[in-house]
Amino acid sequence: MCGIVGYIGHGNVYDILISGLKRLEYRGYDSAGVALVAESGQLNVFKTMGKVSNLEAYCAQKDTQAVLGIAHTRWATHGEPCDNNAHPHFSEDGKLAIVHNGTIENYQILKDALAEHGCNFYTETDTEVLVQLIEYIKVQNNCELIDAVREALKQVVGAYAIAVVERDNPDQIIAARKSSPLVIGIGDGETFLGSDGTPFVEYTKNVVYVKDEEIAIIRRGEPLKLVDFNNKESKVNVDQLQLSISQLEKGGYPHFMLKEIFEQPMTLTDCIRGRVVNGGEHVMLNGVFTNIDKFKNVNRIIIVACGTSWHASLLGKQLIQDMCQIAVEVEYASEFRYSNPVITDRDIVIAVSQSGETADTLAAIQIAKSKGAFVFGISNVVGSSIPRETDSGTYIHVGPEIGVASTKAFTGQVMVFTMLALSVAKLRGTLTEEQIKDFASYIVRVPELVEETLALDEKIRHLSLIYTYARNFMYLGRGYSYPVALEGALKLKEISYIHAEGYPAAEMKHGPIALIDSEMPTVIIAPKDHLYDKIVSNVQQIKSRGGSIIAIVTKGDTVIKELADHVLEVPEVPECLTPIITSVPLQLLSYYIAINKGKNVDMPRNLAKSVTVE
Ligand code: M6R
Repeated sequence: MCGIVGYIGHGNVYDILISGLKRLEYRGYDSAGVALVAESGQLNVFKTMGKVSNLEAYCAQKDTQAVLGIAHTRWATHGEPCDNNAHPHFSEDGKLAIVHNGTIENYQILKDALAEHGCNFYTETDTEVLVQLIEYIKVQNNCELIDAVREALKQVVGAYAIAVVERDNPDQIIAARKSSPLVIGIGDGETFLGSDGTPFVEYTKNVVYVKDEEIAIIRRGEPLKLVDFNNKESKVNVDQLQLSISQLEKGGYPHFMLKEIFEQPMTLTDCIRGRVVNGGEHVMLNGVFTNIDKFKNVNRIIIVACGTSWHASLLGKQLIQDMCQIAVEVEYASEFRYSNPVITDRDIVIAVSQSGETADTLAAIQIAKSKGAFVFGISNVVGSSIPRETDSGTYIHVGPEIGVASTKAFTGQVMVFTMLALSVAKLRGTLTEEQIKDFASYIVRVPELVEETLALDEKIRHLSLIYTYARNFMYLGRGYSYPVALEGALKLKEISYIHAEGYPAAEMKHGPIALIDSEMPTVIIAPKDHLYDKIVSNVQQIKSRGGSIIAIVTKGDTVIKELADHVLEVPEVPECLTPIITSVPLQLLSYYIAINKGKNVDMPRNLAKSVTVE
């Protein structure tokens, strides 16, 4: 959460920072600010509540001339969103400014100690404590900024990516990270900083991923220097940023979310490219084939994830159990990390995360590794922390997902799980070659079937008008459709703020059925699968209690069509592939309901795309 940007070079500092902030706004958007250092040795900090556009309006009449600067877009952790708590924060003498993504867990202890030495605090944030600490050390030790930052960070417990600038030094930015992402872009005579590479993708593709407990010394006209907390210099590895500017634009769609929903035929094609080969003859997930022994001899698989990735993981469990006959558990990463899990070296832990930066998932990985498990990552963002922290893994390759509500990443994750299960089934001989070929031949058709499903767009848009003002929704499904129900409910609540519950359909009679009345619509995911007859009974139970039903059914369904108020027909696929198809109309339904309510679907309230705090 929170996005940080920095720039030193010959370009227009303010413009580069603002456009960088706009790209990072998906990480948090309750306030924004910039700190600009002018050649004359002046430090100007401008910050406002709300979006980056508010900041731009606020700065319109200000002097934004600068030779370097840092900037921030915030997702509040300590202190309410307001101008005063917005970043950058500065030291009491006004000489230092800092931007920070993360949380300083021991900030209160540090704050009390600094207060005893006469420091005053003007905000409610943990970040102000850090900049005051740096200033205090600098003054006490009469040392350089880099030494003060290093000493301060030794005292800090928590997570951070920071960038610090000094009023009296228009030639230097000091940055550091621990458990929060930080990427440096190396340009021609200019250096960029970002929480990811999006702020500077049009300027350079040469990037350095700063490692945990590394401090970057960025000086005008000098090569980038990285040191650890003992001032030992480390090697600067330059990677290539795999991102293009067109991927970061809306491409004619009104919202990133809609663009990302409609991109799915393409993103699924990218996801399976090179993995399902010869028109569906073979499935070959590299991360599995480079770890044959691990997957062949695995005793148990534990999948850890959060949010939508957790829903995809539930489907991963079903796929792996069905195809590979391996016991699989799925845990919320946030619970797993504190559950004292029992893990052996024959267990594989799979960590799933679109962003690759989710703090709880990263912590779960550390626990699993410390207990000897082989950890396999499934991520989308190339070069993010999870792929770097795991023993092996695979990317879903669906391109940058900007909308806070995850859509194409979900279908990509489910597709990767499908290919993973088929690859492992091949190794373990739990499916015949014929069966694998059969599934694989369907996989290559999935993109076109998703395209066909997207043709429901207009129908769903009309349908959404009927349900826009419902105050509660129930989502039900069984088997492979149960995680889809959870995901459908999550999508609706996060962008429309309508309360929605996802349930396994058969559980309904154990309690939730009490909620059913004419004002509680139910979305039933009921494709033709081995539980179809069972779900028909559930539909009848809701109908007989006056509930209205929107059903997602397989094309040609006649039984549910008779019972439901509205049906959305989707193409027929093998049961294990139904989630990729049935989740698409649910994405569209949430999108249109939220739009009808005038909500900001790309930046829903209180949320952020990348949850890098606990
Ligand atoms: O980046 P991750 O997949 O680790 O993120 C996990 C969740 O924060 C994320 O899926 C969240 O639930 C989304 N907003 C869902 O749309």
